[in-house]
Amino acid sequence: MDDIFLELPRHLAIIMDGNGRWAKSRGRNRLYGHIRGAQVAKQTIENCARLGIKNLTLFAFSTENWFRPSEEVSFLMGLMARKLKIEAPSLIKNNIRFHCIGNLRNLPSAVREKALETIKLTAHCTGMNLTCALSYGGRQEITAAARLIAEEVAKGSLKPENIDEALFAGALDSSFMPDPDLIIRTSGEHRLSNFFLWQAAYSEIHIVDKSWPEFSKVELYQALETFSKRERRFGKTSEQIKNSTLRSP
Ligand code: FPP
Repeated sequence: MDDIFLELPRHLAIIMDGNGRWAKSRGRNRLYGHIRGAQVAKQTIENCARLGIKNLTLFAFSTENWFRPSEEVSFLMGLMARKLKIEAPSLIKNNIRFHCIGNLRNLPSAVREKALETIKLTAHCTGMNLTCALSYGGRQEITAAARLIAEEVAKGSLKPENIDEALFAGALDSSFMPDPDLIIRTSGEHRLSNFFLWQAAYSEIHIVDKSWPEFSKVELYQALETFSKRERRFGKTSEQIKNSTLRSP
């Protein structure tokens, strides 16, 4: 399977869903599902880097996840801090540059500090960009960008008529990465759950029925194979796309 040539997404984003239900269905505590979920995240990061994917984003914790039971929130925060600490050397070894998007100010200081340290430690890596969406919400990101732009207009340094899509995209947390070509969501749910609302305009969406803890190399390759067979028209006709080499509008 490793030898099959696939047209890889420039940016793959994953909504890792179903940890809790997976654990419950096995008579285990939801937290056990997150432990297994973190192991699967590590394997997936390494598989994507090996395949040559240039940008991978993992939706690890949403703005809405703060409203979960406090025991689960604290556990997830502790898990993230531990994983960031343990995994920094292997990110460097695999030439993976770490980034974060989301409201880092809301994170407990231990997680924020570990995240900032990992960003610094991997800043020289040139293989794959790994972005962790932490305390991230698409609506909040868009609102914050609108506020930034409004402040520029209020100061007189920007004219409303000069606000276009490129300027708006530049004010988003994700301004340093291309839009996701492919978004995978596990656990059979067909929704974006406030993830990449602006950036997903032309993303291909691939739903995997299995829960995140069951996601393996096989499901990753199936998603990439399906993606490589999709015709992405970006609002144009099939004929126009066949006569052009453009990958995005
Ligand atoms: C979704 O499952 C998963 C999360 C909210 C947390 C994702 C976190 C991890 C995979 C572990 C840590 C990851 C990193 C990158 C260190 P769910 O709890 O929503 O499952 P459910 O829908 O069955 O309740």
